[in-house]
Amino acid sequence: MSSISFEGRVVVVTGAGGGIGRTYALDIAKRGGTVVVNDLGGDIAGRKSSPAMADGVVAEIRTAGGRAVPSYDSVASVQGAQRLIATTLKEFGHIDALINNAGIMRNALFEDVSDDDFDAVMDAHLRGTLNVTRAVWPHMKARKYGRIVFTTSGTGMYGNKLQAGYAAAKAGITGLMNVLALEGEDHGILCNALMPNALGRMADQMMRDMGQQATQEATATMGVVGNSMAPEFNTALGVYLSSEACASTHYVYSSCVGRIARVFVGVTPGWQGSRERPATAEDIAAHFGEITDLSHGFQIPTYPRDEIELVMKHKRTLA
Ligand code: NAI
Repeated sequence: MSSISFEGRVVVVTGAGGGIGRTYALDIAKRGGTVVVNDLGGDIAGRKSSPAMADGVVAEIRTAGGRAVPSYDSVASVQGAQRLIATTLKEFGHIDALINNAGIMRNALFEDVSDDDFDAVMDAHLRGTLNVTRAVWPHMKARKYGRIVFTTSGTGMYGNKLQAGYAAAKAGITGLMNVLALEGEDHGILCNALMPNALGRMADQMMRDMGQQATQEATATMGVVGNSMAPEFNTALGVYLSSEACASTHYVYSSCVGRIARVFVGVTPGWQGSRERPATAEDIAAHFGEITDLSHGFQIPTYPRDEIELVMKHKRTLA
């Protein structure tokens, strides 16, 4: 197996001042890449800011003999994202990969979420990802090369109590990736999303917010999974997806206590109603079992038109 090199590559990693992002930055630098370590340096809720986090990771990389520069811009602001990309291009001339990883957390029951908290979470995750990706997109398109990693989450893909805004933002990021993968494929830009799992300040806060019983259950799980909840257990996937070796696009991958897997949206064969008259609610009730039945497998559409094509094929089979 040939080793994966980032020699000559410039990679922007957002939220790289701590947690999982820091591990991407360290590994890419170790592989010869130049890393732009972007981090606002605020708290878990996205309040305050400081250069200390980005500076700390840049110092670690340089001490180990690698190349890195800090960026303290907030991805949540259009100007911040544009400055991050513009200064990187000015300094290095090109950007090969972007890992959208920055994020914050403000948990609350749905009825208690303030507009401020909802907006802050959307801004850091969804707008932040949009802002930086939009700033780098024309450059990657012109160069006909790019790798963009989007960070979604189990909460966005499956749901999780207390995290309505976070889930909406993370699911939105998957939607953004789905479109950019299609728009980027003719221009050498590959887009994939990953769902990490790691202990760190985000998981600590989550456990505090979930209450004592949930914390005890989570702690018991940690006892079984051992070290595999360390941020480093997510590093390889993000590094691979941002490398030249990656040929995948338009996929979502989960990194979960040492297991890497594909996550997808599938559609069951379902129940085929009449095409001459619309179904009634009673028809739905009568056929609910067929609609949700997984025993005949499922299909994974790439485009909305794939689903129509699948249904038409099914009709032809029946005829
Ligand atoms: P973390 O809190 O350790 O790292 C996130 C980093 O983003 C922080 O260093 C923070 O300062 C930075 N950041 C926040 N807002 C920013 C902004 N506006 N501009 C620039 N930087 C900003 O969190 P962790 O655990 O490393 O998570 C990394 C990513 O993975 C996040 O997007 C998170 O939502 C996602 N994720 C994490 C999971 C986990 O189990 N830790 C599970 C699923 C998703």
